[in-house]
Amino acid sequence: MFNLEFVRSHFPALSDDWALLDNAGGSPPLRGVIERVRDYMSRWQVQLGASYPLSATATEMVAEGHRAMARLVNAGPDEIVLGPSSTMNVRILARALLPMFSPGDEIVVTNLDHETNVGAWRELEAEGLRIREWQFDSGTLRLTLEGLEPLLNDRTRLVCFTHCANVVGSIHDAAAMIRRVHQAGALACVDGVAYAPHRRVDVKALDADFYFLSIYKVFGPHLGMLYGRRELLRKARGVKHFFIGEDEVPYKLEPGNVVHELAASLPAIPEYLLALDERLFGAGALSEQARFDRVFGAIAGHEASLAAPLLDFLKTRSGVRILGERAADPALRVPTVAFVVEGRHSGEIPPLLDPQKIAIRFGHFYAYRAMEALGLHGRGGEVRVSMAHYNTPAEVARLIAALDRAL
Ligand SMILES: Cc1ncc(COP(=O)(O)O)c(C=O)c1O
Repeated sequence: MFNLEFVRSHFPALSDDWALLDNAGGSPPLRGVIERVRDYMSRWQVQLGASYPLSATATEMVAEGHRAMARLVNAGPDEIVLGPSSTMNVRILARALLPMFSPGDEIVVTNLDHETNVGAWRELEAEGLRIREWQFDSGTLRLTLEGLEPLLNDRTRLVCFTHCANVVGSIHDAAAMIRRVHQAGALACVDGVAYAPHRRVDVKALDADFYFLSIYKVFGPHLGMLYGRRELLRKARGVKHFFIGEDEVPYKLEPGNVVHELAASLPAIPEYLLALDERLFGAGALSEQARFDRVFGAIAGHEASLAAPLLDFLKTRSGVRILGERAADPALRVPTVAFVVEGRHSGEIPPLLDPQKIAIRFGHFYAYRAMEALGLHGRGGEVRVSMAHYNTPAEVARLIAALDRAL
């Protein structure tokens, strides 16, 4: 049994009052995160890298933040870049990789991704790179290997795609896609932002070259994390000052420094996940990596039990079109459920739920090109309900009752 009481006690912003179902936009932070930010700012707000003990402790706390994210995604601490957001991290990465490319080289981007993993790469067209578009399948709203195949050739250097589509919640087989990209002699840059709050990210198992996520959607503070394979980050051109060495990773890719107090709060995320694992499965001899796998397995099961009744309800409503996967199967989707209603502007629906303290949302969610391809811009994009593991069956029941009146 999933222990919702234990889970929710770790999120001070959750209440019985509001049903927060807009979590793909951002999750409330963990209590441990809040406490660590307060502690750091109260006791350790000094400059890093000096000899005095206060500075040494503060330096260690920020480094511990990098290590915490590294543990979470199964990377080395020198493979983790922290920055203000994924958007900023990908822009930095695009600049940093530019010297590795030659005019005429090709980069593949999709028309399903959030613009973060598209725009920064498309801008390299001005540097002589050729951009090719991997279009999603209009029936399943998924990226497919068949769709990628004709785009790969001996000039392909990089393929950028999303692990999970933030607008429909479908999970891609990123490992298989990365394998194909590697066979073509190219690198893969994967957007894990919509995936990481729901499923275990293991960058080594995926064999990703670059993988990014937004920590403020994974129960942490407003930061982004970019994983890069060690040798690639070393090769990438730093965006700091000329005298910062190329081997100073991640420092050379963190211009202006990471926000110290936020980085220092990050160990609270693996701490929570391991505490939840122990609460659900007891203390055992499993490795930490195996325990992350296990606890995310439990999270996936609970999330599917939240998505199932909502999908079942939507399927019974005439005029409602679910976008993407219609089944709650946790192997195929996360509990981000999108739909449109025939004859209604999507912007009409969420405000009808506001007075009932049910927070959902409509729009294009920055997957602008996907909404364009679906022809949804003129009608307010889609309605999106995005659940997370701290949501309850009672909240979903409230949502369904409210939608029953609103649709
Ligand atoms: C799938 C996806 N990718 C990228 C981003 C951008 O993240 P950030 O806000 O950290 O720049 C978002 C934000 O909503 C997202 O949902």
